[in-house]
Amino acid sequence: MSSRQTEALDRLWPVHGLRVPDEPGTPVDLAGLFGRRAPVVMEIGSGMGDTTAAMAAADPDRDYLAVEVHTPGIANLLDLVDRLGLRNVRVAQGDALDLVAGLPEAALDAVHVFFPDPWPKSRHHKRRIIQPAHVALLRSRLAPGGTLHCATDWAEYAEAMRETLDADPGLANAHDGFAPRPPHRPVTKFERRALTAGRPVFDLIYRRP
Ligand SMILES: C[S@@+](CC[C@H](N)C(=O)[O-])C[C@H]1O[C@@H](n2cnc3c(N)ncnc32)[C@H](O)[C@@H]1O
Repeated sequence: MSSRQTEALDRLWPVHGLRVPDEPGTPVDLAGLFGRRAPVVMEIGSGMGDTTAAMAAADPDRDYLAVEVHTPGIANLLDLVDRLGLRNVRVAQGDALDLVAGLPEAALDAVHVFFPDPWPKSRHHKRRIIQPAHVALLRSRLAPGGTLHCATDWAEYAEAMRETLDADPGLANAHDGFAPRPPHRPVTKFERRALTAGRPVFDLIYRRP
């Protein structure tokens, strides 16, 4: 980690950080965490946090809960939150699915899953975030009208996501097939790398009716 990230982690983790409880499903008090009751967007696998910070800055009426495993990414997001003066971001460290399990039904206005690890080998597909049981859990925590937005540059995963999301009985595709790239989703390193390599990026936006 850079010295700036180390400093940000030491100073800001106690203010904006949350460790995912060891026991999956431990209740999480979102209003207490953010100090207000506002619609909450959860970003699973926030990486370096550039997307979370940019979207939260542009959307101050909603609260953003980023969940990431990787400490340098968390530190980077904390630094961005500080530099941009954001009050609507909290950062959780650990497995996002364990955290989601502790949320009440309908607690989230949106779930973002941007460029999740593709786990390309078929024997590793069971590690993918987007798979039927995980989607059912995420959907159960979405409020009516809430959205699950995924993006990937891995064409085979994109097709698998689409099949999985289409098959979920409680979600409806907000578009006809893949979604047009929404301008509010910032371009991250992963997307730039894909575009430079000539790989298309797929967005999927599904709504809980
Ligand atoms: C390929 S990176 C993409 C990062 C970011 N979304 C972006 O677009 O730049 C995927 C990230 O998901 C995180 N991740 C994977 N599984 C996770 C889980 N179960 N809970 C939280 N984060 C997870 C990884 O640590 C990694 O940083």
